[in-house]
Amino acid sequence: MKTKKHENHTYIIESEDMERKNEMLLQYIKEKVNQLLQIMGTKPLRDEELNDESLIAIDPIGIIAESFEQVLDHLKESNRQLQLARDYLQAVFDTAGVGISIIDRDLKIIKCNEKQKELLVNGVSQIEGRHCYEVYCGIDSPPLICPAIETLEMERAVFLKEVTKKGKVFQIVTSPLRDRSGSISGVIEVSMDITEKKRALEAMCQSEKLAAVGQLAAGIAHELNNPLGNILGYAKLLLMEQDTTEFQKNRLEVIIEQAKRGSSIIKGLLEFSHQKMPVFERISLNACIELALRSLSDEIRSNNIEILTGLGTVPYVMADPKQMEQVIYNILLNAIQALEGKGGIVEIKSEALNGSVEVTIKDNGPGIPKEHLSRIFEPFFTTKPVGKGTGLGLSICAEILKKHSSNICVESEVGKGTKFSFRIMGGVTGNV
Ligand SMILES: Nc1ncnc2c1ncn2[C@@H]1O[C@H](COP(=O)(O)OP(=O)(O)OP(=O)(O)O)[C@@H](O)[C@H]1O
Ligand SMILES: [Mg+2]
Repeated sequence: MKTKKHENHTYIIESEDMERKNEMLLQYIKEKVNQLLQIMGTKPLRDEELNDESLIAIDPIGIIAESFEQVLDHLKESNRQLQLARDYLQAVFDTAGVGISIIDRDLKIIKCNEKQKELLVNGVSQIEGRHCYEVYCGIDSPPLICPAIETLEMERAVFLKEVTKKGKVFQIVTSPLRDRSGSISGVIEVSMDITEKKRALEAMCQSEKLAAVGQLAAGIAHELNNPLGNILGYAKLLLMEQDTTEFQKNRLEVIIEQAKRGSSIIKGLLEFSHQKMPVFERISLNACIELALRSLSDEIRSNNIEILTGLGTVPYVMADPKQMEQVIYNILLNAIQALEGKGGIVEIKSEALNGSVEVTIKDNGPGIPKEHLSRIFEPFFTTKPVGKGTGLGLSICAEILKKHSSNICVESEVGKGTKFSFRIMGGVTGNV
């Protein structure tokens, strides 16, 4: 607005002042509009376009508002996609069968999934934000050997083949976590539970070993059987000769005794290796227990053993009666031998359990040390003095039970005693 003639001089001055202010404001708005148009990717307005009329016709504010709307829609869609991707990632993170942690350069845990907690964490509730060595290793300072530290220092993945924790065996792989610039911002640690895999592998090795030992044993036993039988036969014949002296008789008796011992070892080897298939029939395990006890009555008496029997009302089972008797005999004999003639109690029980029969043989002997427990089913593992045991008893039991789709369980505590048990499926009508 130009100055108007007016008596009041002050009013004219004020009016000029306002006009200047308005122009400045308009200039400011035009500049900002141009800036916004540039941001939105629209050409800035030329000076001649910036007069009031063209400004209204072009409607830059409308353009900006529309662009904002488009940007907002785009942003909403991007957010939705981002949320979806995050949900997928979280689902993979949570349900992966492996433990995953993300650790920063200061060894603090940024994120850790449930599986990782299950494998590595022992009674720690707050995990994120704490040092990994505190949470996973239970120590106050970084350990000397740590795959995460090695990954950070060497900038490469590190693989730990076998770690044992909480009774489980697992493998750990740590890999560098890189930011957009390529520098290492932390470590991704993945833990894989291999307990079952290792157990299966060990079982496979064990059965391969057993098969190899079995073949070897069968070969040797076969070769030795005939000459040993001849030694025994001829020694017996010589013993019957009229002119054999007392001295010679004594020697011959030693030969016969040793040959018999050799024969019984061979018998054991053949039993172990022959892989005799069971002849299944409807039998009573209680009857097998009674037969085994009867065969061992001399040992029980001479070793001053108290036998407690608890034979329950159990179903008949389909099994090989001779083989079942042998399993019970071998376990019972071990229990008697473990009591070493010092007297003691051996408890033998049979129980009906979910359609099968469980036989338990428990002694209050010296127990089996932990380091022996995993070896007692190995053929030829014995702690008995030479001449007392061949170490085949329990491996024969395990083999027999395997053929009856069963296995043998052992619990033992040094100084308290040992309990062996096995189950045979019932499935045959009628109780004993
Ligand atoms: N009840 C038990 N108490 C303590 N140790 C036991 C018991 N049963 C078995 N063992 C241990 O397991 C080992 C292996 O037993 P296994 O019956 O296979 O062989 P063995 O008794 O030594 O010899 P074999 O049975 O061939 O005469 C034994 O030497 C002994 O150390
Ligand atoms: Mg034995």
